Amino acid sequence: KKVVLAYSGGLDTSIIIPWLKENYNNCEVIAVAADVGQGAELAGLEEKAKKTGASKLYIADLKKAFVEEYIWPTLKAGAVYENKYLLGTSFARPLIGKRLVEIAEAEGADAICHGCTGKGNDQVRFELAIKAFAPTMKIIAPWREWSIKSRDEEIDYAQAHNIPLNITRETNYSKDKNLWHLSHEGLDLEDPSNEPQYNKPGFLELGVSPEQAPDKPTYITLTFEKGIPVALNGSRLCGVDMIAQLNKLGGENGIGITDIVENRLVGMKSRGVYETPGGAILYHAHNKLEELCLDRDTYHYKQGVGLKFAELVYFGQWFTPLREALSAFVDSTQQTVTGEVKLKLYKGNIIDAGVSSPYSLYDEDIATFSEDEVYNQADAAGFINLFGLPIQVQAMKKQKK
Ligand code: ARG
Ligand code: SIN
Repeated sequence: KKVVLAYSGGLDTSIIIPWLKENYNNCEVIAVAADVGQGAELAGLEEKAKKTGASKLYIADLKKAFVEEYIWPTLKAGAVYENKYLLGTSFARPLIGKRLVEIAEAEGADAICHGCTGKGNDQVRFELAIKAFAPTMKIIAPWREWSIKSRDEEIDYAQAHNIPLNITRETNYSKDKNLWHLSHEGLDLEDPSNEPQYNKPGFLELGVSPEQAPDKPTYITLTFEKGIPVALNGSRLCGVDMIAQLNKLGGENGIGITDIVENRLVGMKSRGVYETPGGAILYHAHNKLEELCLDRDTYHYKQGVGLKFAELVYFGQWFTPLREALSAFVDSTQQTVTGEVKLKLYKGNIIDAGVSSPYSLYDEDIATFSEDEVYNQADAAGFINLFGLPIQVQAMKKQKK
């Protein structure tokens, strides 16, 4: 029997290897590490996986697909979960789930295993993606089966099975890192009345707190083509480099730190802190350009689409007809979202510093407070009479009563 395991080298997925062997007839465990841009965490992983009992380790480089097929569509949709969360973990899961299925099929595996707890969103996202591509694949979720109840017990299990760990009991936030973001959950953050320790060395990993940011602003110019960022300060960049560079510039200026009590799909509220410096800049810039390039009705309707899109992504429903149909709508709106956005980054703030587009719908000749030739102010009287007719009729009826 063969099991493909979504493996990160962290505490959860490390102890799962010996546990699978003990509980599933000494099965062969094939570890799959997805490279979604988490960086250093991948170093030394193969040795570690094998030492822990895996027969081999695949490293799946998913960075390019992550950006082009998941991040850009979500950015174009303007999808933000509960007004704050830029979905960094959420949209990586369907991508990883799909790749797990491809590897499981190539290996002739009998099951796919993941290390998500039974209390969270990630289990749902992985499993919906697996179901979308391998509808009858067996899925093993140890957290829903084993008797281990806490991270302390996990550490005990790891020590009993000689699994090398580089964490200590106290600094053990639950983190998820990729190219787009870093999440922090657990420990002192579990009490929403606690202020996150932004200034404590080692807490923030993608940047500094606003207080620690320089007193001088940083100006940047972003160029978009059809809703996709293609150049930074005039240099064309691939998506992966674009996000990496914006993470650096945003991080240095204390940008993109979010503290949220969010509603999980499984029903509970949970508290998290997210670092998304590059993402915060890109969402801001993209919206700025849409202000200029989208007509009013499309812009307003698209806000509702973004809300629904975010929910679908958060709930793991990426591979669904509705998500695909909403993406088709979004792409249609992005045909004219091309142009340049200049921003000033300063101590956690993103400040507009000018926007321009060949498709701009803004017309200075019409909007001006000075004299103009196209807009006849007398037309407004008739417009208001008809637009206000329902209000006027209601008021007259009320007076009669
Ligand atoms: N609460 C966020 C979400 O549901 C982040 C989850 C982080 N996942 C993790 N395995 N640490 O998308
Ligand atoms: C987990 O519970 O595995 C992580 C958090 C989440 O999925 O929401």
